Amino acid sequence: MIKPNVLSNLDRDDDGIYGTTVIDAAQSLEATLRERVAQFHYKDYLASISHHHSIPVMDHEVRRFVDSIPARGIICDVGGCWGWHWRNLHEYRPDITVVIVDLIRSNLHHAKKFLKEQINKNIWLVHGDATKLNFKDNSFDGYWSAQTLQHVPQFKDAIREANRILKSGGQFSCYSLYNSPLFRLVYKSLGKDYVTDGIVEGHYYLHRADLRQRRIVADVFSNFVSSRYSEILFKPELRLNFFGRENTWLGKLDAILSGKHPFLSILARQLSFHTTKPFDPIPDKDL
Ligand SMILES: C[S@@+](CC[C@H](N)C(=O)[O-])C[C@H]1O[C@@H](n2cnc3c(N)ncnc32)[C@H](O)[C@@H]1O
Repeated sequence: MIKPNVLSNLDRDDDGIYGTTVIDAAQSLEATLRERVAQFHYKDYLASISHHHSIPVMDHEVRRFVDSIPARGIICDVGGCWGWHWRNLHEYRPDITVVIVDLIRSNLHHAKKFLKEQINKNIWLVHGDATKLNFKDNSFDGYWSAQTLQHVPQFKDAIREANRILKSGGQFSCYSLYNSPLFRLVYKSLGKDYVTDGIVEGHYYLHRADLRQRRIVADVFSNFVSSRYSEILFKPELRLNFFGRENTWLGKLDAILSGKHPFLSILARQLSFHTTKPFDPIPDKDL
C-alpha cells in the first residue's frame, strides 16, 4: 500500500516504524513503567487488555467515531499503544487509514505483532509525542485518543496539536478516566487515595477528565464540546473486569448504557470529550 501523505516528512526505521521522539522529563516516570510493561511477553493481547479497558464498550465507541469519518479518511490515534481499537477496521471500513502515535516505541512493536499484516497497509505506526506531533497542519479527518491525554501534564499543548493537525470539519474524540464525585467519596470513606490531578505513586501523572479540561478543549477548538460517559459497569478496580472481555453480553450491555444519560453518569469510569474543528470563516471580501 502507498505510504499516506501525512508521513511524507518522516523516515521509516528498520523496525517498520516512522519517526522518533525524545521523552519529556515530565513523563519520564511513566516512560519507565511503560517500558517495563512492554518487556513482557503477551500470549493473548485481548485478554490482557480486558483487565484495564472494556473491549465491548470501546469497540462501540470506535464504531460511532468511525461513522463520522468521511470516505477514504485518515485518523490519528494518539497514545494508540497496541492499536487494538482498530483490529477489525479493515472489515467494516477498509477505506480508512489509521496512524497510531505512541511515546513508547516498544508499545508499537507490540502493535506490529498484534495487527500483523494490517501494518503499513491500512495502519501505520509513528513514534511521537502528543504535545509535538510530527505532522503538518490540517492533515487528518479524525483525532482519537483513549486514556492517554490523562497522563500528559501539558494537556493544553496536546489539545493545540490536535486542533492543528485536524482538517476543518475533522472530528476530535478523547477518552479519560472520569473524576467521579461518587468514587471520590467511596475511595475517601475507605481511606484510599483517589488521585484527581497528580502523581499516582510509582506509576504516572494522572489528571482525570473534568470540566477544566472540557473548557480547554472548547477554548482551543472554539467550538461546543459534548461529553459522553462510558464504562458504566466495567470496574476493574473492584475486580469486575470480566465485563471487559470481547463480545460478552454484559460488556455489550455496558456499551448500550454508555452515553449521555445523566443518571448513569454517576457510575461512569470514563468521560470523553467530542468536538469538530470548525471551518474558517469566509473573509468578508469573498462574500
Ligand atoms: C493507558 S495507555 C492507553 C492505550 C490505548 N489508547 C488504549 O486505550 O488501550 C496510554 C498510552 O499512551 C502512551 N502515551 C503516554 N504519553 C504519551 C504522549 N505524550 N504521546 C504519545 N503517547 C503517549 C503510552 O505509551 C501508552 O501507550
